[in-house]
Formats: sequence, C-alpha cells, structure tokens
Amino acid sequence: MYLRNAWYVAAWDHELADTPIARTILGEAVVLFRNHGQPAALADSCPHRRLPLSLGCVSGEGLRCGYHGMLFGADGRCVEIPGQDVIPPNAHVRTYPVAERWGLIWIWMGDAQQADPAKFIDVPHFDDPAWAVNRGPAMEVACHYQLMTDNLLDPSHVSYVHASSLGSMDTVGIPVETEVGLDRVIVTRWIKGHTLAPFFAKRVRFTGPADRLQHYEVRMPAQAVIKDIVAPAGSGAPEGRLHEAVFLIDSYNFVTPIDDDTCRYYWFQVRNYAADDPAESQALTEDFIAAFNEDLIVLSAVHAGLKAQPSKLDLATDLGSNQARRMLARMIKAERGEG
Ligand code: FES
Ligand SMILES: [Fe+2]
Repeated sequence: MYLRNAWYVAAWDHELADTPIARTILGEAVVLFRNHGQPAALADSCPHRRLPLSLGCVSGEGLRCGYHGMLFGADGRCVEIPGQDVIPPNAHVRTYPVAERWGLIWIWMGDAQQADPAKFIDVPHFDDPAWAVNRGPAMEVACHYQLMTDNLLDPSHVSYVHASSLGSMDTVGIPVETEVGLDRVIVTRWIKGHTLAPFFAKRVRFTGPADRLQHYEVRMPAQAVIKDIVAPAGSGAPEGRLHEAVFLIDSYNFVTPIDDDTCRYYWFQVRNYAADDPAESQALTEDFIAAFNEDLIVLSAVHAGLKAQPSKLDLATDLGSNQARRMLARMIKAERGEG
C-alpha cells in the first residue's frame, strides 16, 4: 500500500531527453516524455491494443504509439489517428501531474486536483553561491521502500554498515533523541569527541577529535534529509557556536517505490565548502555511491530475509522507524477513507 497523494521522484531531469522513458511507480506503468521541453507523464498503455506508449516516439504535439500511430497530447487526449478523421471519445489515456524541481522530475500519483506545488521539499542552500551541489545516479534497490526509510532514520547502523566510510566504532551505543512532527520523524544525536570517520577525516579543515551531529529526518512518505555537522571537539558546535572550519553537509534522499520488492533511490548533497570545486563534487558523489552500495547490499539481503521469515523482534534503535511506519500507515488509511 502506498500514499498516493504525494510527489515522488520519477527521474533525473537529464534522463528525460528526446525519447520517452518507461517507469513503474507504485506498481503502475508510466511513460514520461517532454512536450515542447515540458515534462509530461501518461499511463504507459495505448488504449487501442495496449502497446506501451514508451515504445513509441515523441512527435510534434505529443507521444505517438509505435503500433498504429495514434498521437496523444500531454493532456492524454488523442489528437490524431492516421487514416481516420473521427477520434472516438474513449481514445485517451490517464495523465499524471509532473513538475521539474531541484534537477529532478516529480510525479503526483494520486488525485490530480490535490497536486500541490507547495508540497515540494525545500532545499535552502541549493542556489547559495557559498555552497555546492553534487548529484548521485538513480539507484535501483531490491527492497521494500520502507526498509530504505527505516535505514534513513537509523544512525546506529552507520558504525557497522559504514565502518570504512561514514562511520567509526567509537559511536556505538550513543543514545538518540526522537521527535515526531505532523508529517515527519526526526532522530538526532551529538557524538562528542570522537574519532573522525574516514569519509570526513580526509575532508575537514581541522585535525584531532570531532563533535558530530547526526540528524536523520524522514518526511512522509519516503523523503529523507540527513544533516551532518562535523566540528572540532569542544568548539561549541552542540551549543550552536559554529567554528569557521565546521563542516556542513545536507543529504537529500528520495525513495520511489517501484513495487513491493523494489524501489529507486535518488539523492544529492549540498555542502558548505569547496563551492567552486567540481572535482570535490565528483569525489563526494563517488564516495557516497560506495557508502550507499554498502546500504544496498544489507537492505536487499534484509528484504529477502524478512520475506522468507518475518521478524517481530524490535530494538531500541527501531523507535524512530517504527514511529514513521505508524505515521505513514495512518496517512494511507486516511487517504483511503479508512481512518
Ligand atoms: S496499439 Fe497503439 S495505435 Fe494501435
Ligand atoms: Fe547507511
């Protein structure tokens, strides 16, 4: 079950060029294409003989079916049938609201009337000249999308899963604080005076131990904002004093369910250093790909393990993810009129 009235990422903007692309989103086959440069999305099924429209081509005023050439506009209506003048009233396909924001193509899978641009996530430093952006690829993951959001609310896994990248073992067992908002759950902790993880050690502008904030925030249904503050130990960062060498990186993570067994993972980071350094952006992307692949190995194995043998065992570290699961279940029920 999915929350339908929400924006999901359908593609990176650069993935959508001159040819249509097929995506399965929340179990539905969708075709994305550009109409005069603007993104559009239709159900990926021609109403004539059900050939996926993604096998057709972009043509002038819309998308042309690759079987008998019916042409559909971005509004889903057939505007041309080769060899006949009359267009039957049922010659149309479902459309989905789409929008382009933060370099991504977003799709609204529910009631089109409720598609609200105000519900896009805000990215405060995206256009800040003192900050820089690095983008990841779209990663297909063999797990239920909520295993991804569980993981994005769980700082404790970092010590074990990312021991050679984002984590260090002297952070094990440090307690977290969990905060529940209207549409989000936030799990945070300050780790004081710890050894820098390899990922940060090669980047920060100071030496010695660090104070590090891990801020893990999941917004329903499946968006996460992970913020790291890494500062010299004892420089006052936990009290809000940000030393000039403090290292800030915000990671934006968007998980789009394909179906109950797979999802697509889109992400980018914004950072407060090396703003004009494309080589550092590239290096960050490569390091995050390596770190996230560590997650994906674990999560696909967990998905397979839980499918074979469900578990009812919870640990204290599951508090945040369980809160998020309950919140999303309530939202889905309310959307379906069952709440
Ligand atoms: S199947 Fe699309 S026009 Fe015939
Ligand atoms: Fe992770």
